[in-house]
Amino acid sequence: MLIQLLKVITMYTNWLSDILRCPETLKPLKIKRETYESDVKVYHKTNGILSVVFPDQIEGTDKRYNNIYNILAPLYDINERVMGKLLTGVDMVKGRKQIVWLLGLKPDMKILEVSPGPGVFQKYLRENIGESGELVALDLSMGMLRQCQKRNKYLNVQLIHGNAQFLPFADNSFDALFHFGGVNLFNDPQKAISEFIRVTRKDGIVSWGDEGFSDNYKHERRKKMMLKINPGFAKPRPAVPDSVYDIKENEVYEGLAYLVVARKK
Ligand SMILES: C[S@@+](CC[C@H](N)C(=O)[O-])C[C@H]1O[C@@H](n2cnc3c(N)ncnc32)[C@H](O)[C@@H]1O
Repeated sequence: MLIQLLKVITMYTNWLSDILRCPETLKPLKIKRETYESDVKVYHKTNGILSVVFPDQIEGTDKRYNNIYNILAPLYDINERVMGKLLTGVDMVKGRKQIVWLLGLKPDMKILEVSPGPGVFQKYLRENIGESGELVALDLSMGMLRQCQKRNKYLNVQLIHGNAQFLPFADNSFDALFHFGGVNLFNDPQKAISEFIRVTRKDGIVSWGDEGFSDNYKHERRKKMMLKINPGFAKPRPAVPDSVYDIKENEVYEGLAYLVVARKK
């Protein structure tokens, strides 16, 4: 029973505690029982999840969508699978599996998933990196992270409450970074991508994607409707920085979204 209980609480491994940084100064954090402290601030856990959000006051589109995501979190997945299928015709579950397959993950990798939402990719990520890989997931919505806790109790995901544009990790920490579905509407997509690259090791996998019609997308009526419903579709794809190589830009979800997979120089 005790072992069972230990398993379902978010446990931070020594490795993760070592790479955690203050998102403001990037200096190491000192662990004091339940808190993590930097020179400038004490960071606390809520619901067993460490909150390392910077800046303290969320603003702009980050703030607007954070409120919406917190409210929608319990319904997000079913809405995507059922309403998404009705509106777009896309089988989201098939699409998710394809996205994770495109990453080319290997057993034992240390991976950071940024913006997992309710954790819809985590089962596939864990399958790819195996039991001994490290899976860390960071999201700005505590509501979404609570859903990850409920949904993926036994997947051993280390959850962090933080901001993609100020990642609380040391440089070159992860073998792979995966982000899908938030970057178009972040306050500063380009800053987020430079953070994704900073925390990934040399030659590690850096991958991000979001809504974006492929040039071959044929369903004009659906396109118009989706542009009305989701402002993310109207956003240009962020530029791919020249600090990555071996860049593959994939069309996913049947031409409704893109996924960049690259390696850090
Ligand atoms: C549309 S959901 C995508 C969820 C999942 N990755 C998927 O593709 O189904 C967008 C996610 O981005 C997160 N998010 C939004 N702004 C963020 C930020 N600045 N930093 C980290 N996560 C953010 C939201 O909380 C939400 O969980």
